Amino acid sequence: MNKDKQPNILFSSEQIRERLATMVGEIEKDYRDKELVVIAVLKGSVLFLADLVRGFSRPLAFDFIGVSSYGNSRTSLGLIKMEKDISIDIRDKDVLVVDDILDTGRTLGWLKDHLNKFGPRSVKICVLLEKEVDRVIDVEANYVGFSLPNVFVYGYGLDYRDRYRHLPYIAQLGDNEVPPGEKSLEE
Ligand code: XMP
Repeated sequence: MNKDKQPNILFSSEQIRERLATMVGEIEKDYRDKELVVIAVLKGSVLFLADLVRGFSRPLAFDFIGVSSYGNSRTSLGLIKMEKDISIDIRDKDVLVVDDILDTGRTLGWLKDHLNKFGPRSVKICVLLEKEVDRVIDVEANYVGFSLPNVFVYGYGLDYRDRYRHLPYIAQLGDNEVPPGEKSLEE
């Protein structure tokens, strides 16, 4: 275990804070005359949601939806399982889905279809991160915090084996790397 290793920080907490302030401005402008309902995707979006909604000056409602995509620790296989549905009425409401990362598009593609069944007036997508990869499902985010190449990231809601979500920054993990302080894969 290499305790001296430093995380490879891609986006610092300061960068995230500044970017979120700009995003809130854009979203507030677009939803000026609308009744905004934010649906946040568990668990990866929790820190993002908390910091984002704190910036809004107008009333809004939020709720959570829990979905998991089966796979190993770094890749999703695309089998979506809903673990918790929404418990808020979104009929005729303007819904903004807040998620941590848009990768293959399977999760958000499935979610958009699912939420549309409740009869909302509109459904838009806001992600903290967008991977620059070919989508398996054609879904576009309306608001994007940062774009990044096809690398594995953790922190600020995103996990490595269900840990490290609490970190205030987003760090990159190389193919055979583990986060600093974690037992290496050979140990
Ligand atoms: P899809 O492929 O459905 O992926 O667009 C969305 C979900 O996959 C997870 N994901 C990641 N999680 N680091 C993570 O910790 C990553 O680099 C990463 N890429 C995808 C995440 O749960 C996301 O909501």
